[in-house]
Amino acid sequence: MTGSNSPSAPTPTGTGTEQVEVPYNHRHLLGIQGLVPREITGLLDLADSYVGLSRQVDKKRPLLKGRTLINLFFEPSTRTQASFELAGKRLGADTVNMSVRTSSVTKGETLIDTAVTLNAMRPDILIVRHNSSGAVDLLAQKVDCAVVNAGDGSNEHPTQALLDALTIRRRFGRIEGLTVAICGDVRHSRVARSNIHLLSAMGARIRLIGPPTLLPPSAERLGAEVFTDMREGLKGVDIVMMLRLQSERMEGNYLPSLREFYHLYGLDREKFDYANPGAVIMHPGPMNRGVEIESALADDPEISLIQEQVEMGVAVRMSVLDVLSRRLPNGGPKQ
Ligand code: CP
Repeated sequence: MTGSNSPSAPTPTGTGTEQVEVPYNHRHLLGIQGLVPREITGLLDLADSYVGLSRQVDKKRPLLKGRTLINLFFEPSTRTQASFELAGKRLGADTVNMSVRTSSVTKGETLIDTAVTLNAMRPDILIVRHNSSGAVDLLAQKVDCAVVNAGDGSNEHPTQALLDALTIRRRFGRIEGLTVAICGDVRHSRVARSNIHLLSAMGARIRLIGPPTLLPPSAERLGAEVFTDMREGLKGVDIVMMLRLQSERMEGNYLPSLREFYHLYGLDREKFDYANPGAVIMHPGPMNRGVEIESALADDPEISLIQEQVEMGVAVRMSVLDVLSRRLPNGGPKQ
């Protein structure tokens, strides 16, 4: 193993040539809920070994040679789709990006018929984003290949939580014992839900901060402390994770105005100063500058980990594709 969830863990940067064993016992990756800490740690350790590979001139390691990946995104994406494509290519797989806008979905073909059709072409891994919570889980029951949830409605976005955890672990050397504030539109956020599951499983304390209308109805049951006053909520936190207002999932008005939202919940220097010395800022993207975060903070390399999150996204997705491919028929570690 090249890392662990202990306070003194190093932050290794391997070259992907080490064989890292990962105790992962699932055919798919549909969510963080249901994973145990040693599976999460295994995926992060393997991802760590891929960071160095992606920083080399020769970024390829043909572990998935001969395998076919299909990206099937029913919602827009920049980071997730591009990084799964890069991850697949760096591991030597053939990758196909299905454009839903020009597919037969526009002629009324259903999600399941689309999936069954693609399945008949014998892909090895299907990476799916959909606007309905539970849709990816349903699809996984209809196909023979491995399925990765790239975000389903407001339910889960497991690879985002894994890349966030890797970013945190590399910065702090641990996850356990840290206090993480997840701020803004928590109610509609699959990123928040996956992060709550992962970070609490790994021993972090979670705070949710936002206006009452944008907090999930069962926030306390998720094991988090809840704050509607951002300054109070930020006192003593190590990580401030900002979220975008997900207007595409809102029916009706959740806020009096964007101006008032920024005044009360937008992260600026004055509010950030309530966090611990050495605290950092994270954001899954896409960002709305001047709505949930001040531009200068987002771009401050001393405190913003936002670009590192994007880099870790490729490494984490390489790890996930590698591990799922080991469980495919004719899979298993290759030298
Ligand atoms: N964080 C995230 O999922 O970004 P994209 O929507 O660009 O994939």
